[in-house]
Amino acid sequence: MAYIEQESITLDRNDNWLFLKKFFTSPKTIGSVRPSSKYLAREMIKHIKWNQVTSLIELGAGTGVFTDHIYKLKKPECTALIFELDREMRKRLQKRYPTLDCYPDAGKIKKIFADYQLKKVDCIISGLPFANFSEQERLDILDGVVKSLKPGGMFVAFQYSLQMKNLLKKEFSQVNISFVPFNIPPAFVYTCYKEQLPKHQGER
Ligand SMILES: C[S@@+](CC[C@H](N)C(=O)[O-])C[C@H]1O[C@@H](n2cnc3c(N)ncnc32)[C@H](O)[C@@H]1O
Repeated sequence: MAYIEQESITLDRNDNWLFLKKFFTSPKTIGSVRPSSKYLAREMIKHIKWNQVTSLIELGAGTGVFTDHIYKLKKPECTALIFELDREMRKRLQKRYPTLDCYPDAGKIKKIFADYQLKKVDCIISGLPFANFSEQERLDILDGVVKSLKPGGMFVAFQYSLQMKNLLKKEFSQVNISFVPFNIPPAFVYTCYKEQLPKHQGER
């Protein structure tokens, strides 16, 4: 309950205005007229095992509807990297969540992993508007996502259609889809799992 009450402290009405303004200037990149609802946010983070997750990435953080949950629920030792292309939104995120590392382009995820010699992560959450990307951009970002995840790692993405279903089924060993009606527009949440290594190749 204490956590639910906290929800309104960091996120404010200015976020809705910023989002709308950005949508009018770059509709394809922003992908929606307003930030995701609290119902969609809860569905997106529902399966994250916060006590086990040691590293996590968020792609397309916007004004921070999911970031806020990540910031409050992750263990202090869990590393979280946030990607947001829009500079003004990114600055706002950095100010509100100073302990999270922010980067611009989700398309550069592989490069950032290589530059910082990062280990693979447990979980990636995405608010990216994949439906508005070219096929090549979509494939590149997904390749980065799959390569950055540990075996058995989880990728959670929302979309306003089922357009990504077949592609995600090709890339992941398991894809579960749920529907969130209380969002503008209503959204599908894809919860995807990367294949586990066979036991003899796993860590001992
Ligand atoms: C539909 S909004 C979702 C924002 C937030 N996650 C939410 O649910 O309210 C998509 C966000 O992805 C960002 N975005 C689009 N392309 C991106 C890219 N290549 N790298 C990082 N962020 C990107 C946009 O700037 C926008 O903030």
